[in-house]
Amino acid sequence: MSHFHLRDGVLHCEGVALPAIAEAVGTPVFVYSATAMRQQARAVRDALSALDNPLIAYAVKANPNIAVLSTLAREGLGADVVSGGEYDRARAAGIAPDRIVFSGVGKTASEMRRALSGGLAQFNLESFAEAEMLSEVALSMGLKAPVAFRVNPDVDAGSHAKISTGSAHNKFGIPIGETAAACAALRNLPGLELKGVAMHIGSQLTSLAPLEAAIIKLGALIAELRSQGHAIQTADVGGGLGIRYDPTLPPPPSPADYGALITRLTRGWNVRLIFEPGRLIVGDAGVLLTEVIRVKDGPNCPFVIVDAAMNDLMRPALYDAWHAISAVVPDGEEMLADVVGPVCESSDVFAEARRIDRVAAGDLMVIRTAGAYAATMAGTYNSRALTPEVLVDGDAWAVVRPRRGSDTFLADETLPPWLA
Ligand code: LLP
Repeated sequence: MSHFHLRDGVLHCEGVALPAIAEAVGTPVFVYSATAMRQQARAVRDALSALDNPLIAYAVKANPNIAVLSTLAREGLGADVVSGGEYDRARAAGIAPDRIVFSGVGKTASEMRRALSGGLAQFNLESFAEAEMLSEVALSMGLKAPVAFRVNPDVDAGSHAKISTGSAHNKFGIPIGETAAACAALRNLPGLELKGVAMHIGSQLTSLAPLEAAIIKLGALIAELRSQGHAIQTADVGGGLGIRYDPTLPPPPSPADYGALITRLTRGWNVRLIFEPGRLIVGDAGVLLTEVIRVKDGPNCPFVIVDAAMNDLMRPALYDAWHAISAVVPDGEEMLADVVGPVCESSDVFAEARRIDRVAAGDLMVIRTAGAYAATMAGTYNSRALTPEVLVDGDAWAVVRPRRGSDTFLADETLPPWLA
């Protein structure tokens, strides 16, 4: 059930009318439903309940707001982090070190040190050079780092090219065929303890078939590594399950379908399974609330110019992503329009020749399914403010990140001595 619904003709997030938030905080503003996030976290937990003590490590990159992380930490989720900054956030949200995995191709020595001193479940290593660096860092601290090799299974995730990660030409992981040799060589790195294997083939997967192919390969690899004497205790199968952006398209596989597949394919593996869902947990729990600045005539249909822009939500400009758009107080009529932002780029377009609710200057609209990879990817291009974030829970709501605009930006920038 969506937690954004019409009540008395006005779009609400849970029990809160969106115009009340717009009035108090201004627009644009991201609005998140805590209940929607908890519901998804529980759906994933339930779907994986047949497994022995799985670790669901929420991919912090999807939405790293501390209020979001704290909500999910209370649901028992761990964290998949890809930077020292994300590690700090996970810890600040109260996520226990042994529920944190550290992924990413470019971990630096200082990030490794930071995570080792705070503690973590495992580093997912993406190259042998990284293993060598981590071993040195761990030894210098008198520690042994728990590690898994992230393998690149060379399967086509069937997702958008810019968010597919499991093909041989992608920078991620080490080729699956080279993993056994890498694990053997790991024995010469005394600062590391091999715990397991990991993979992540891509994001917004709308079919389970590529995942199935990759998991079968991972299972064969585990057997091979064990036959060579490695004690494989963990298998991280990544994240990636897609969500429904366009209600007119068939829905992606459900968490239950996903859980059933994993349970079937990993039977007898005798490992602790790790999952890294991001979008699935928070994607549908957020909207970008925006106001129509004006409507301008266009050659084929009008331009609806809203006060949100590509700097707030990059997904359409970056991946041609489709997001549903609705009026907050729909009058039952429709119009054909291009919905665009104010930024000086032709790619600042949220919808092209789309049939939308009829709107006029001053009306509020929402760009839906903006809980994941939205606020976290925002920038300040055109010296636009960093858009605030609001968390709703039942009838309560709070600003969980304020708007940051010219005051902050100008206070941060300084003139060099010769211009002062
Ligand atoms: N684990 C690893 C190692 C990842 O790289 C990612 C996402 C995830 C887990 C979480 O994937 P999810 O469950 O959220 O699909 N900005 C893009 C998505 C980039 C995903 C990057 N990696 C977008 O807006 O579609």
